[in-house]
Amino acid sequence: DDLDGFIAGLPKAELHLHIEGSLEPELMFALASRNGVEIPFKSVEEVRAAYEFSNLQDFLDIYYAGANVLRTEEDFRDLAVAYFDRAAADGVTHAEIFFDPQTHTHRGIPFGVAANGLLAGMAEAEAKHGLTSKLILCFLRHLDEDDAFRTLTQAQPWIDRIAGVGLDSSEVGHPPSKFQRVFDAAGAMGLKRVAHAGEEGPPEYVREALDLLHIDRLDHGNRSLEDPQLVTRLARGGMTLTVCPLSNVKLCNVASIDVHPIDRMLKLGLRATVNSDDPAYFGGYIGDNYRAVARGRGLGRDAIVTLARNSFLGSFLADDAVAAHL
Ligand code: ADE
Ligand code: ZN
Repeated sequence: DDLDGFIAGLPKAELHLHIEGSLEPELMFALASRNGVEIPFKSVEEVRAAYEFSNLQDFLDIYYAGANVLRTEEDFRDLAVAYFDRAAADGVTHAEIFFDPQTHTHRGIPFGVAANGLLAGMAEAEAKHGLTSKLILCFLRHLDEDDAFRTLTQAQPWIDRIAGVGLDSSEVGHPPSKFQRVFDAAGAMGLKRVAHAGEEGPPEYVREALDLLHIDRLDHGNRSLEDPQLVTRLARGGMTLTVCPLSNVKLCNVASIDVHPIDRMLKLGLRATVNSDDPAYFGGYIGDNYRAVARGRGLGRDAIVTLARNSFLGSFLADDAVAAHL
C-alpha cells in the first residue's frame, strides 16, 4: 500500500529542528559567495562527503563551521524559508524551531540579525504555506552560565516573539545543573523550557532536566530507556520526547534504523515524536525520518498516526489550535 503517500498527507508538527542544521551545501556555497566568505570545500559533493560522524562532537565541529556563512538578516530569512518550503512539502503544518544565538554573537553577528531574519522567514512561511511556527532560543551548554545569562539579556527586545529556551551542543560533561539558574530566570519570564538530555548523556541528565530545569519537553531522551523508573515517570507525567531517528543513526547513538527504539518508546507509554534535528547533515527531513522508522521498524498506520498526533499534543500551541491541527 501507499505508505509514503499516507505519511506525506498526514499533518505533522516538527518539534526538534535546529535551523542552522537545515543549511544545505548548495545554500552554504551561495551564501559564501554572496558574503565573500571562504569555505574549506571545493564543491557541494565535497561538503556532503565530509558528513561522516562517529559521535555528536564530530558533527558539532562541522556544523558550527558551516554556520559561518550566515551573516545578514537576509541570510537567516533565506535559510528559514528554505527549511519551511521543505517542511510544508512533507506535510508539516506547525514547526517549533531552535536557533543557537551564541554561534552567531560569538562571531560578531548581533542577536537581532539572526532573530529578525528568522522571524521574517517564519512570517513568510505562514503567508505562503499556512505553516505556523514558534522560535526557541537554545543556550550552548559547552559555554558557561554567564554567557547564557548574557544571551537571555540580549534576547529581551524579542522576548514576546520567543516561545522558549532550550539547551544544546556537547552534552557529556555539561549537565543540566550547570544552567539551573538561567532556566529559572527564563521560567520567571514566562518562557517554555526544553533541553537536550539523554542523547549521549546518562539517564541522570534527564532527571536533572526534569528536577532542576523544570522542562516542558525533552529533546531526544533516548537513554531514559536504561532506567525503568525514569521511563515510568516520563510516561505518567505525559512528557513529550522529541526523538530524531536519522540523527541517532548518523551520530552512532543507535546502530541502525532497524534497531531504533521508537516503537519500544510508544509501547512503554512514552509520548514520542519523530523529528529531523539537523536535516542537511543527517540525510533527511521529517518525512524521511517517518519513512525510515516506518520501514525499519515495520510501523503500521496506527503507530504513524500516534506519532503525528503526539507532535501536536507536545507542541506549545494552545489547546484550541492543537484541536484545529488534529
Ligand atoms: N546542536 C544541533 N544539533 C544537536 C544535537 N543533535 N545535539 C546537541 N546539540 C545539537
Ligand atoms: Zn538537537
